[in-house]
Amino acid sequence: MITVADLKIQFGKRILFHSVNIKFTAGNCYGIIGANGSGKSTLLKVISGEIGSNTGHISLGPGERLSVLSQDHFAFDEYTVLNTVLKGHSQLWDIMQKKDALYAKPDFSDEDGMKVAGLEDTFAEMGGWNAESDAATLLGELGIKEEFHFTLMADMSAKQKVRVLLAQALFGNPDNLLLDEPTNDLDLETVMWLENYLSNYENTVLVVSHDRHFLDAISTHTVDIDFGKIQTFAGNYSFWYQSSQLALRQLQKQNKKAEEKRKELLEFISRFSANVAKSKQATSRKKMIEKLNIEDIKPSTRKYPGIIFSPEREAGDKILEVSGLSASVDGKVLFNDVDLYANKGDKIVFLSKDTRAMTAFFEIINGNQKADAGTYQWGQTITSAYLPFDNSKFFRSELSLFDWLCQFSTDTSDLYIRGYLGKMLFAGEEIFKRVDVLSGGEKMRCMISKMMLKNANALVLDTPTNHLDLESIQAFNNNLKKFPGSIFMSSHDHEFIQTICNRVIELTPSGIIDKLMDYDDYITDEKIKVLREKMYND
Ligand SMILES: Nc1ncnc2c1ncn2[C@@H]1O[C@H](COP(=O)(O)OP(=O)(O)O)[C@@H](O)[C@H]1O
Ligand SMILES: [Mg+2]
Repeated sequence: MITVADLKIQFGKRILFHSVNIKFTAGNCYGIIGANGSGKSTLLKVISGEIGSNTGHISLGPGERLSVLSQDHFAFDEYTVLNTVLKGHSQLWDIMQKKDALYAKPDFSDEDGMKVAGLEDTFAEMGGWNAESDAATLLGELGIKEEFHFTLMADMSAKQKVRVLLAQALFGNPDNLLLDEPTNDLDLETVMWLENYLSNYENTVLVVSHDRHFLDAISTHTVDIDFGKIQTFAGNYSFWYQSSQLALRQLQKQNKKAEEKRKELLEFISRFSANVAKSKQATSRKKMIEKLNIEDIKPSTRKYPGIIFSPEREAGDKILEVSGLSASVDGKVLFNDVDLYANKGDKIVFLSKDTRAMTAFFEIINGNQKADAGTYQWGQTITSAYLPFDNSKFFRSELSLFDWLCQFSTDTSDLYIRGYLGKMLFAGEEIFKRVDVLSGGEKMRCMISKMMLKNANALVLDTPTNHLDLESIQAFNNNLKKFPGSIFMSSHDHEFIQTICNRVIELTPSGIIDKLMDYDDYITDEKIKVLREKMYND
């Protein structure tokens, strides 16, 4: 349990938030959301004591322990992997150190013997005897093989370190667990493992994430930081999103009777619970549903960008035909002998263990890169718009946002261009900012505007949710679900893939796996699992 009382945080003149009073209780998982810079990380740092607050008080339940996912990838460089995990339980680690120091004394006295006995008792009470095997099990589940457990952290790759630090945070079932964007740098399978782990977690969890599938799987509550206010809602991200949108629509319909609105909300809740009951990781979500109250549903105050792709002309039957396509990078084969025929209306997600495979494939079919072998041909009626992984070359420019977008439009009237920028939530003076100073998320919104101007009937999207905030991801996702043309994409975002794509193509060095099925079925299919292992190892 974490109690936050009358908290205020201020940097210089800027007040991030004030008068925050929240109790985070055991058995609940709080998904923290809010725009970039709204103060999510700061809130976690204040709770963990890493930084002080201006006023207010943070307390844990009596005798409780708090654990944080470390953001410092170098802090444990001189420790072995296993010890790094053990250090996650600092009291236990301290006892182990003290014990070892006493046993190592050449002049071990009776008094030392008494001390050691005391330490051994506490050690046993804390479950110390199982500590190493528990730590090893966690590491194993996170894909760190035993042969690395005694390797120094300094010698581990960046991606492996992330998993070790995650094991460190989870180690010893802390009473309170703080995770700031834990799914960054994790592959989709590890994210699913973490979803399972946390949806069965009995203690208090606070997690910041932009990953909607992850948030939905684990959270019982949603903590929204918006305009300096922190509000807590019962329900996971989807529940919060859908119910607050519904409440907003109700607010706009003044003439609707209170009784009708009530009925509509109750119906919404019962539809939502029916879906939860069907889902795979229902544990925490079921708990969340039991406690729902329609009085808790508040209209959304969020602004979502207007992402609308509308094809100018309908596509003919031939979309894209690829034959014998191969590519490599620095002598490593990324994919080999790819044959594919895209059907009308296909929305294909491309997967690979090496994400460079997708980037190479998309660069080739957009004519920016040469293949090692093979050909591709777009249908006559196809107009495509491409969102590349690396957009830096578009922003080496001194142009203002307004002038930048004019480059890509036939209509350059003030009204028209402002309209597009407005849809992407660039307003007022902001549109005269130079494009080279924009943040990663702002650059993505510019690229999306550029694409929307093309009115294409085929979209090629290389990791489209990169750098985007939740509002933009949600708006993007909503539109692509309805998009009538074809989509070729790669993504880290489970929900995005699952709700948009009807076909999965995995690019491997020994050919492709091509399945007309949704993503959840693809990743859970045992036969495909075996096939995948074989294709990468051949
Ligand atoms: N030590 C600091 N001094 C001054 N400003 C800071 C400091 N730490 C964070 N900020 C500012 O506080 C705001 C919130 O930051 P942060 O909590 O990292 O946001 P989030 O995690 O929600 O993206 C940002 O505008 C950031 O620039
Ligand atoms: Mg942050």
